[in-house]
Amino acid sequence: MTAPKKYSNDTTSIWLGNCLDVVKDLPDSCIDLVFADPPYNIGKQFVDFKDFWPSDSEYANWCHSWLDLCIRKLKPTGSLYVMTSTQAMPYLDLWLRERITILSRITWHYDSSGVQAKKYFGSLYEPILFCVKDPKSYTFNTSDIEVVARTGAVRKLIDYRKETPTPYKTTKVPGNVWYLPRVRYRMPEYEEHPTQKPEALLERIIKASSSVGDVVLDPFAGTFTTCAVAQRFGRRSIGIEMQPDYFKIGLRRLGIAEEFNGEVLKPLEKTYVRKNGAAPLTPASKQFGLFDG
Ligand SMILES: C[S@@+](CC[C@H](N)C(=O)[O-])C[C@H]1O[C@@H](n2cnc3c(N)ncnc32)[C@H](O)[C@@H]1O
Repeated sequence: MTAPKKYSNDTTSIWLGNCLDVVKDLPDSCIDLVFADPPYNIGKQFVDFKDFWPSDSEYANWCHSWLDLCIRKLKPTGSLYVMTSTQAMPYLDLWLRERITILSRITWHYDSSGVQAKKYFGSLYEPILFCVKDPKSYTFNTSDIEVVARTGAVRKLIDYRKETPTPYKTTKVPGNVWYLPRVRYRMPEYEEHPTQKPEALLERIIKASSSVGDVVLDPFAGTFTTCAVAQRFGRRSIGIEMQPDYFKIGLRRLGIAEEFNGEVLKPLEKTYVRKNGAAPLTPASKQFGLFDG
């Protein structure tokens, strides 16, 4: 592969290249937050790259190589979020917990995909490991991510366990099961990528584990969701992606360039006719959430 190429604006640097080459050259201890959403070894096609390793141990070794670099580049107060498949999580968890503190094992739970399992329980979640270098000193902006507490506060209950009885708090830090819809074709944030993550997922992670001006690193940027959300909330960021087709999405989505290698970068033109040639959707199926394209 050719040498990595970098494009930047004031707050965001994006690289076209292999993350192993780019991350190794970053200064040690310079990153506040890493969000890593790698290929899961489940056979997805990322343009000309097939997400498939010959064995679990080869996949694990590859993961260890970039995880090792990411941990080295994190500040002592830094946080690392690793998205993984249900299959790979056990061995990545065992490896990580010998090197860093895993504070939460988050379940990103979502609605069903088009194909329903009939002879087993279909997968409706992806695990996210939330790790910190120092459990005594890390960023966690509780008030920026609190959600409505649905229990005692809603029923206006009083907590009598305290010395002075007090009403239940109306907000709380979310638990470790996050229900967030997947990115669907009809959502404004949709880009052409097989595993784009929702902006709402990144918003919670970035707000919780970084502050304005901090540096966020995404070694597997895809459509550059992490950088887009970081930019919106005043964080600096570095995103790396090895496929030019996805890199071009990043250049446009982040407002870094309007053309690439002479090609004008245009947003995806959406048509609501299904690719299999079926008729345009009926009004009922046009409603958000029913389109499962
Ligand atoms: C799961 S996707 C990330 C999706 C992203 N979070 C988003 O919201 O769009 C993983 C991405 O990593 C890219 N990739 C795979 N191996 C890479 C490597 N060694 N260096 C950089 N990018 C890589 C793939 O092309 C793919 O776009």
